[in-house]
Amino acid sequence: MVSERMYALGTKKSTIRTIFEYGKKRAAEVGEENVYDFSIGNPNVPAPEAVKTAVIDILETMDSCLLHGYTVAPGDPQVRETIAASINRRFGTAFAGKNLFMTSGAAAAITICFKALHEDDADDEFIAFAPYFPEYACFVESVGARLSVVPANTDDFQIQFAELEKLLSPKTKAVIVNSPNNPSGVVYSEATIRKLAELLTAKEKEYGHPIFIISDEPYRELVYGGLTVPYITRYYRNTLVCYSWSKSLSLPGERIGYIAVPDEVSDFGRIYGAIAGAARVLTHVNASSLFQRVAARCVDEPSNIAAYEHNGELLYQGLVEAGFECQKPQGAFYLFPKALEQDDRAFCDRAKQYDLLLVPGSDFGCPGYFRAAYCIKESTICNSLPAFQKLAASYR
Ligand SMILES: Cc1ncc(COP(=O)(O)O)c(C=O)c1O
Repeated sequence: MVSERMYALGTKKSTIRTIFEYGKKRAAEVGEENVYDFSIGNPNVPAPEAVKTAVIDILETMDSCLLHGYTVAPGDPQVRETIAASINRRFGTAFAGKNLFMTSGAAAAITICFKALHEDDADDEFIAFAPYFPEYACFVESVGARLSVVPANTDDFQIQFAELEKLLSPKTKAVIVNSPNNPSGVVYSEATIRKLAELLTAKEKEYGHPIFIISDEPYRELVYGGLTVPYITRYYRNTLVCYSWSKSLSLPGERIGYIAVPDEVSDFGRIYGAIAGAARVLTHVNASSLFQRVAARCVDEPSNIAAYEHNGELLYQGLVEAGFECQKPQGAFYLFPKALEQDDRAFCDRAKQYDLLLVPGSDFGCPGYFRAAYCIKESTICNSLPAFQKLAASYR
């Protein structure tokens, strides 16, 4: 009667959602202040004042039929010109409005890219690097392609190139890069991006067709200690950038982002056309008309990096003092420490006894680790540290 695949997707909750809902229930029993919920990546920093100002001003000054009407499918031309100019100023690119396609956040952007590149061959393959955002799997499968995963390099969470080389094949349509990374909190270095570009360029030659990088960048601005996040289109021509303001301006519920398609990609017209076609069948119609305008007004608004950096440092120091092994936070708002036993699910279950709500690394294709999202109140982090100490002591 219904699609079993869709039914399963709609009714089987993700581990993250299950833990989050457990946290709400537990908070009702023991008090919110006694539950240390590190499960979900929902920004806790308010959207900048500039967003509110822009919303009010746009609502008060713009013609209602224009503001609330459809825009052209790729997005309002003036909005795209403004955003392209901002990207060019910051990253030395040469985009114009025609290089952007406004989307309902990064999730829509990457799914549109998968669908645009998939050539109706069930063997078509997309490659992700563990640890990876688990939604990639259902997005790729939804378009009828396959996702392969390069195992994690747990030394520094950069890329295991020897493993990538084993997976690349003539069926490879694209590799998905996410830096700063959810869940590792690591930024791919310039050396990593150069090496990736070299390898893919060689493979494109060998196979005689393009292999794209889909760069999933919702955390681009959330980076610490003056680190630079390489702008991948400058290293590799067949790159599609998927951006979102969900995290940088704390607007996850407003669903606004874009795909940037550089002029240099192989056959720009056909790629951009396929993106428009994929968006069409995915019922995109257009990204939020109001929030396209808000994004254009706030495009140069800085993110509140300091708040996340402070939380990251606090949690990192606390975990290291408790005896955990962990990469220093470089970006996004996640830590990905090593679990204290190989079975990360058993570890996260034990953590629950201390009201620490953590997500097993297995959910991100990286068993033996766990994710702690620190986009939460500073006081929750401080209060959680004795619980982490007790959890660690229980393993000694
Ligand atoms: C790595 C990654 N990609 C994409 C998304 C989806 O973001 P958006 O809200 O822009 O759709 C998320 C959200 O958490 C994410 O962590």
